[in-house]
Amino acid sequence: MAAVWRPGLEGVVAARTGLTDIDGAAGRLYVRGYPVEELAPAASFEEVVHLLLEGERPGGPDGERLRAALAAGRRLPAAVLDALRGAVAAAMPPIEALRLGIDALPLPDPPDGTPLALVAATPAIAAAYWRGLRGLAPVEPCPDLAHAAGFLHLLHGRRPSPAEARCLETYLNAMVDHGLNASTFAARVIVSTRSDLKSAVVGALGALKGPLHGGAPRPALELLQEIGTPDRAELVLRAHLDRGDRLMGFGHREYRVRDPRAGVLADAVSRLAADRGGSRLLDLALRVEAVGSRLLDEAKPGRGLRANAELYTAVLLSELGIPSDLFTTVFAVSRVAGWVAHGLEQQAVDRLVRPASQYVGPPPRVWRAAAG
Ligand code: SDX
Repeated sequence: MAAVWRPGLEGVVAARTGLTDIDGAAGRLYVRGYPVEELAPAASFEEVVHLLLEGERPGGPDGERLRAALAAGRRLPAAVLDALRGAVAAAMPPIEALRLGIDALPLPDPPDGTPLALVAATPAIAAAYWRGLRGLAPVEPCPDLAHAAGFLHLLHGRRPSPAEARCLETYLNAMVDHGLNASTFAARVIVSTRSDLKSAVVGALGALKGPLHGGAPRPALELLQEIGTPDRAELVLRAHLDRGDRLMGFGHREYRVRDPRAGVLADAVSRLAADRGGSRLLDLALRVEAVGSRLLDEAKPGRGLRANAELYTAVLLSELGIPSDLFTTVFAVSRVAGWVAHGLEQQAVDRLVRPASQYVGPPPRVWRAAAG
């Protein structure tokens, strides 16, 4: 019997992975078996990268080697800086400049250094481009800073506070991998042809850019800004739903309850804002989440449309002073580790991904020369 075509490949098992496990019904996410609620706020990003790439958290020397490799990789080669100067001249969107910068990155030889080179360079490219757009020179990397703190330093030109570094690190850990999301699937397809990991990351960036995927945090922030105050949540959200709009930051292909990362990110903002007298934006988001969930139940009964990670990504990155133009790029700073880890899994499978298609075009017919 011919297989049934599902436009979004819902429920199709297209890979086996030991990286992350999603329980969409229960709203649980495990990274190499560790619940995201425990791992994200406690681990360093270096530990999570090692966990993804090697299967276990690093021992002392391994952890130090990885931290040094990432620090070294945040120093961009001239070829990348030249490419970014061209991107600045063209005033490219940051995610497109990141794609260009990654493509210009010379691959290390031997290639087994490529995964860490890609993870290391992504934040440096993002930061250098953003500064270039503002006529600012790239910042000299600080080798003593860990990856998350190192990115904030490269972006803002100042060393972050421990609270800021911890908040971003929790975000990077929470978003690092998420099963076979669209950008990760794209990466695996590219690697399945025996193409290289850099090409897989470039392709994944193209998928991440879309507003249904990694492009969601910015419109989610714009929704919060449009609402402005908690008392306006019902009015504005109902108007959007009445127009048939999707509420950005809500809904998920896998989760039928709240995305577990939403709580992790909201808690991280609470901790960051504790010594600032709290976060008005977080309070607003919590109210919008409550009202939005109720209205979505009314509008789309039984769909289980709840807040996803992007609603609180918008709050967290805003509170860290990261502009919304960079939200998708910062998502890539985290997810690049997941993409390369899936790429290594796919290399081990070494089977070309080539699904079937169902032909629904015209029946066979004869091609005749056009009448003269
Ligand atoms: C990410 O896959 C991943 O893991 C992604 C990600 C990751 O870590 O990689 O988690 C990151 O991309 C999170 C999602 C960010 N995107 C958004 O917040 C954009 C808004 N969300 C939606 O567009 C939507 O929820 C999706 C795309 C995320 C998932 O949609 P599905 O599973 O394809 O569901 P669907 O489009 O079939 O919608 C089912 C129904 C539809 O109504 P009907 O046409 O059947 O009447 O629910 C409605 C949809 O219109 N719906 C929404 C909605 N999401 C779905 N209605 C209003 N607001 C929404 N957000």
